[in-house]
Amino acid sequence: MSDSPAGTPRLTLRPEWTALEDHRKDALPQPGLRELFAADPGRAERYVVHVGDLRIDYSKHLVTDETLALLQELAAAADVSGLRDAMFRGEKINVTEDRAVLHTALRAPRDAVIEVDGENVVPDVHAVLDKMAAFADRVRSGEWTGHTGKRIRNVVNIGIGGSDLGPAMAYEALRPFTDRELTFRFVSNVDGSDLHEAVRDLDPAETLFIVASKTFTTIETITNATSARSWLLDGLGGDEKAVAKHFVALSTNAEKVAGFGIDVDNMFEFWDWVGGRYSYDSAIGLSLMIAIGPDRFREMLDGFRIVDEHFRNAPAEANAPLIMGLLGIWYGNFHDAQSHAVLPYSHYLSKFTAYLQQLDMESNGKSVDREGNPVDWQTGPVVWGTPGTNGQHAYYQLIHQGTKLIPADFIGFARPVDELSDELKAQHDLLMANLFAQGQALAFGKTAEEVRAEGVPEEQVPHRTFRGNHPTTTILATALTPSVLGQLVALYEHKVFVQGAVWNIDSFDQWGVELGKVLAKRVEPALTEGADVPGLDPSTAALVAAYRTLREV
Ligand code: F6P
Repeated sequence: MSDSPAGTPRLTLRPEWTALEDHRKDALPQPGLRELFAADPGRAERYVVHVGDLRIDYSKHLVTDETLALLQELAAAADVSGLRDAMFRGEKINVTEDRAVLHTALRAPRDAVIEVDGENVVPDVHAVLDKMAAFADRVRSGEWTGHTGKRIRNVVNIGIGGSDLGPAMAYEALRPFTDRELTFRFVSNVDGSDLHEAVRDLDPAETLFIVASKTFTTIETITNATSARSWLLDGLGGDEKAVAKHFVALSTNAEKVAGFGIDVDNMFEFWDWVGGRYSYDSAIGLSLMIAIGPDRFREMLDGFRIVDEHFRNAPAEANAPLIMGLLGIWYGNFHDAQSHAVLPYSHYLSKFTAYLQQLDMESNGKSVDREGNPVDWQTGPVVWGTPGTNGQHAYYQLIHQGTKLIPADFIGFARPVDELSDELKAQHDLLMANLFAQGQALAFGKTAEEVRAEGVPEEQVPHRTFRGNHPTTTILATALTPSVLGQLVALYEHKVFVQGAVWNIDSFDQWGVELGKVLAKRVEPALTEGADVPGLDPSTAALVAAYRTLREV
């Protein structure tokens, strides 16, 4: 642990921070969104930023021009742009792991030059993409066959965290673009039921396993991969040679891949400068590439790149990830908001918020700064949400009338991408009407006078009043194409970056997941072998004993 960098006051002591605190207090009682729009109707057009195909409307936020200017001053004081440029240059901004943070290199054009330790990484990125494309084409065309000569019809991705959530989310998101002749399954949980359900109706002779693990040491993945290999060999008569035709690996660790028994020729590489939660546009996306084809995958990478370039070059006041990050800071640090909801109005984005949970919470769930000092400011929010309109009939009640402030992002599309019947196509307007109505109700609420004017009995008026002033961002795009998905993911990646930069935390390590892993290994022998675990705390020892007893009943 050391002091903040020489000459830099702690975040909360900076004049730009205290100016925001004063602004928040001075503005109390805060003008509500009704008043803000009445005084400045132009904000509906002014507080909109366009990036690629995304139209990002942040007019329904509890901010004025002054708030935004003060937030930008905070970002400037925290040198967000300096850290951003260092990231894009390949500097080792992941300080606790002494690593570069270069997921942006995964979507750089072929002729770009991005150096890590003096070596240009872009040719390697494209070599792997080309190898993935060749393999994906062979599987899609039926040229790659299994051990018995049958063509591959099922692809099972085995991975967890970043090696699962990204490809699983993107596969769902881009389903209309997938080869419907192929079946895709994603196995992550060490609960044996996950693998069991994934393979129970599959023919091993037609099944390809993609073992996705950056480290190739993750216990869940290696355990599932080992069980998958047994399932395969049992189904194919036990010939070990079958493994080469039915298993490929996505990893940074060739040695461990070989040790597992997968031919390293069937390994698709990535590098330690790609964080797990930032990896699905690397080799980790192989299952997705097989599903949608290499051209669509490249379109998705182009979408990522559009937002990378915007983040790098757009002026601060029109920089979407910067603005979204700062708005989150406004609520988390100056309004005591604890969580952030992401509410996609698209069935295909059913896994998007779960994906963002790892991206955001594993990145910014930190309580020491980059120098190791405890922080005395709030860091990353709890991220949650599910697709609309389902959430409206579940938890929106709490957002509308509960006691918590929950900033939310709505994501919607002008038209569906899939081939729907006219009747189903018409439902899209209803879906979007709900999105717009929710944003409106959350922002402007319903006053007691308005409720009374409807003839509601007086005793019910408080129950039927909506206070409004719930801030939302509305992200609109034409359709959920591969490029648009890439744009959306990059938007959130950089938003998370901005917040971590302002909070002066290392957004790229994840030491917090280690302790549980170590303890699980220590406890496991007590369950499997009945061994004594020295030093086990009384509560956990009692749970273990109860489990052992119940297991025998
Ligand atoms: O949960 C910790 C973590 O290291 C994540 O960051 C990562 O995405 C996941 O485990 C899987 O790791 P690996 O790809 O090395 O198996």
